Amino acid sequence: MMGCGNFEFLIWVSFILSLFWFSTGFTPADQHFIDCGSPTNTTVGVRVFISDTSASNFLSTPQNILVNTSSNSITLTDDSQLYKTARVFTKSSKYTFPISQSGRHWIRLYFFPFVYKNYNLSTANFSVSAQNYLLLGNFNPEGVSVKEFSVNVTSSTLVITFTPANNNSLAFLNALEVVSVPDSLITDDATSVNPTGKFQGLFTQALETVFRVNMGGPSVSFENDTLWRTWVPDQGFLVLQNVARNYSAIPAVKYPAGGATPDIAPATVYGTCTEMNSLSDPNSNFNVTWEFTVDPGFQYLVRFHFCDIVSTSPYSLYFDVYIDSWLVAPDLDLSTINLGILATAYYMDFVTSSNDNSKLRISIGPSSVSKTYPNAILNGLEIMKMNNSLGSLSGVVSMVSSSTNTKNNVGMLVGLIVGAFVAVVLAAVLFLICRRRKRASLGHSKTWGPFSINGGTSLTMGSKYSNGTTLSAGSNFGYRFPFVAVQEATNNFDESWVIGIGGFGKVYKGTLNDGTQVAVKRGNPRSQQGLAEFRTEIEMLSQFRHRHLVSLIGYCDEKNEMILIYEYMENGTLKSHLYGSNQPSLSWKERLEICIGAARGLHYLHTGYSKAVIHRDVKSANILLDENLMAKVADFGLSKTGPEIDQTHVSTAVKGSFGYLDPEYFRRQQLTEKSDVYSFGVVLFEVLCARPVIDPSRPREMVNLAEWAMKWQKTGQLEQIIDPNLAGKIKPDSLRKFGETAEKCLAEFGVDRPPMGDVLWNLEYALQLHEAVLQNDPEENSTNVIGELSPQINNFDHADSSTVSAAQFEVSSMDDDLSGISMSRVFSQLVKSEGR
Ligand SMILES: *[C@@H]1O[C@H](CO)[C@@H](O)[C@H](O)[C@H]1NC(C)=O
Ligand SMILES: *[C@@H]1O[C@H](CO)[C@@H](O)[C@H](O)[C@H]1NC(C)=O
Ligand SMILES: *[C@@H]1O[C@H](CO)[C@@H](O)[C@H](O)[C@H]1NC(C)=O
Ligand SMILES: *[C@@H]1O[C@H](CO)[C@@H](O)[C@H](O)[C@H]1NC(C)=O
Ligand SMILES: *[C@@H]1O[C@H](CO)[C@@H](O)[C@H](O)[C@H]1NC(C)=O
Ligand SMILES: *[C@@H]1O[C@H](CO)[C@@H](O)[C@H](O)[C@H]1NC(C)=O
Ligand SMILES: *[C@@H]1O[C@H](CO)[C@@H](O)[C@H](O)[C@H]1NC(C)=O
Ligand SMILES: *[C@@H]1O[C@H](CO)[C@@H](O)[C@H](O)[C@H]1NC(C)=O
Ligand SMILES: *[C@@H]1O[C@H](CO)[C@@H](O)[C@H](O)[C@H]1NC(C)=O
Ligand SMILES: *[C@@H]1O[C@H](CO)[C@@H](O)[C@H](O)[C@H]1NC(C)=O
Repeated sequence: MMGCGNFEFLIWVSFILSLFWFSTGFTPADQHFIDCGSPTNTTVGVRVFISDTSASNFLSTPQNILVNTSSNSITLTDDSQLYKTARVFTKSSKYTFPISQSGRHWIRLYFFPFVYKNYNLSTANFSVSAQNYLLLGNFNPEGVSVKEFSVNVTSSTLVITFTPANNNSLAFLNALEVVSVPDSLITDDATSVNPTGKFQGLFTQALETVFRVNMGGPSVSFENDTLWRTWVPDQGFLVLQNVARNYSAIPAVKYPAGGATPDIAPATVYGTCTEMNSLSDPNSNFNVTWEFTVDPGFQYLVRFHFCDIVSTSPYSLYFDVYIDSWLVAPDLDLSTINLGILATAYYMDFVTSSNDNSKLRISIGPSSVSKTYPNAILNGLEIMKMNNSLGSLSGVVSMVSSSTNTKNNVGMLVGLIVGAFVAVVLAAVLFLICRRRKRASLGHSKTWGPFSINGGTSLTMGSKYSNGTTLSAGSNFGYRFPFVAVQEATNNFDESWVIGIGGFGKVYKGTLNDGTQVAVKRGNPRSQQGLAEFRTEIEMLSQFRHRHLVSLIGYCDEKNEMILIYEYMENGTLKSHLYGSNQPSLSWKERLEICIGAARGLHYLHTGYSKAVIHRDVKSANILLDENLMAKVADFGLSKTGPEIDQTHVSTAVKGSFGYLDPEYFRRQQLTEKSDVYSFGVVLFEVLCARPVIDPSRPREMVNLAEWAMKWQKTGQLEQIIDPNLAGKIKPDSLRKFGETAEKCLAEFGVDRPPMGDVLWNLEYALQLHEAVLQNDPEENSTNVIGELSPQINNFDHADSSTVSAAQFEVSSMDDDLSGISMSRVFSQLVKSEGR
């Protein structure tokens, strides 16, 4: 019966998976790239921006003014070459492009004002129009900027006209793009915010992208976007940064059939989010809010991108979404929308009403119907300005007076008459307000400039790690605490406040003067190695903020001290809950959830950033539990970034803890993420069997847990050696899945071990299999189980013949539980006595 169920189930799975959307298929029917004023063609990635100096049949201008700059301040981006030349227009000029397929097209205009002979481009003042729309009015570019518009072109040509504001002003352009947009990107409908209802008519809207933001992640450059869009990080828009935190799980992102595609937003956008920083309080009730400066008097199309990468099980995240004070999505339930499949991309469009507010606020907060931990997420956001009733995207409507009779202007004139005189006056007033505001602050053009895109580079950690950065108050490594503050917090290192002791020194419980409970790890007097690990730990924990990584609150390096201050983890180490103490036994569900949490933390370390980070000391003593038994990975003193940049560390002595050490690393000293996977596999068996990983008091074949458990796993009799407290309390399917997962992790060769993401999925699956029997509701079970599936699961269903031997390191003369002791002996343990 079991087998039959599984079979049916697999069919279901392949059916569901076949619905997912895997390729990026869009090829623009029209694509015109122009490098204005350049004598040569310029290649930017796969795009060739062609020169418009010789025989360009696109441009029609009464003059031929080419300007260039040798400014090498523009070297930060791959498209910097485009900004080095420009065309200047002192009279109305136009580019005319043939359109082979009607529909929405992008118009991207590149500006960089420089000085060339007697042309000072910073003084430019001009309008740009396309079709019947005024895209820019009395425009005066500041700094490097790309203005992005999209219009639905239904004629066979697209004419873009540049018109200087008056006889004394000039217009210029550095580069220009006209590219077809996939029809599905902007549909006709959206939800109107005020009054609430359906909005129709986006087809005829000209849109200007004013903000395109990747929540919780770095900037995504045009090279990493299927449609050459640029996404900027959200940090700068957060009203209160400390109520929000980042989460990243890019490989988890799935695209559903008939919904979001990588063209809607790439996985690098859906795979990161900003969530509520609600960890310290299960009753948290606050909003995370972003604020954007917009031109008043316009309607905006606001597109939200959501992807639930944070939940460990479906139907556990409900939250509210606001635009200004309007609750636009109450009790948003992404699981139900996505048929119970987590990490599925989803987007929603709203149209705001026009008002005279120059700030647009977006908020997310927990929903009152949520029964679980309060949280709310947002993965990406786009804000697009819509043309007003005059067909203008600019507060200015003066175009009519400054250019000659073209068809465009007829449209504009009609618009003017219809729009009535009041509108003109209003627009002029708004324009004045808006200009003043723009001068005062750089406004949104700043976020669009390629110069501002340094979020990506600042994440490159390699250099930081190898050059032994000195710690200073100025560096952004958490807070530097004065020594006296640490003394105060720990009652002057009161011995009775000690909660843990290890080779590195002692861990004290402490209380900061704001009442926050902390764990204070005080290192022994400085050794060179201790110092290196002290720094690594600070740098790692400052970079990696994650729900399942222990948070660093601060450090103190005054008076030769090496003190680290962490969030206090009420329930100590996972190890202390498994054996050797009098803690009550954990249930199977609790154990699985702890393993899942730890796996998430490790998965994030391995994949969350551009370079994998290897923990190197994964063990049950380094997995800490908070008051809700939520697991967090701790102790990053030995962590290293991934193999590619680790050349200088090849000779580093093998580090880690006996009993958890990857035999391949031990033999070949080659460090990869898979070493962590091995150690984690040992932890899984430790959790299942609740015994030390090295136990010299036992008969020889039982000393090494990994070896011993693998023997039973291979004969399919794992249940013989499990923790007696769990006997009969684990659903066989769940145990089988768990055993298989651990077995895979312990594969002799790293290449045969699954990545942490697969381990995570399989543990979640094991949890679902366990829960299924408890719920006894067949219909609900099947939904849940399917909800937890990933393509990787199939990996585990092949009978794999790789032999596994964990006997690479013989332990002969151990007279203690050595599993808790790092070879480095420095900063190896954290918080809570090991009961020695
Ligand atoms: C630029 O590219 C166009 C189109 O590929 C080609 O016709 C033209 O000759 C090239 N111009 C130069 C200067 O290489
Ligand atoms: C600018 O263009 C002129 C004329 O083509 C050329 O002589 C000069 O070298 C160029 N300057 C730079 C900085 O590219
Ligand atoms: C160019 O114009 C800007 C703005 O009017 C002015 O600040 C700058 O000094 C001018 N530069 C030169 C070289 O004239
Ligand atoms: C641009 O030109 C318009 C019309 O001549 C004028 O009203 C406006 O003040 C000018 N803007 C700037 C920044 O010079
Ligand atoms: C601008 O120049 C045109 C022709 O060169 C002239 O007819 C017109 O009067 C000028 N306008 C102003 C405001 O100087
Ligand atoms: C463009 O507009 C036409 C006519 O209004 C409409 O039929 C078409 O669907 C629109 N296309 C897009 C992609 O907006
Ligand atoms: C969130 O991610 C951004 C971009 O990657 C980074 O600049 C920022 O420091 C991160 N914030 C936190 C709290 O880790
Ligand atoms: C973004 O694109 C660059 C250049 O193609 C590439 O090197 C980088 O790995 C990409 N980053 C991501 C996160 O995909
Ligand atoms: C979140 O923001 C909305 C809109 O401003 C507001 O109505 C709501 O009360 C806020 N919620 C909390 C918990 O502050
Ligand atoms: C934008 O322009 C189109 C066509 O000119 C018009 O139908 C539409 O109503 C305008 N949008 C708004 C919000 O007025």
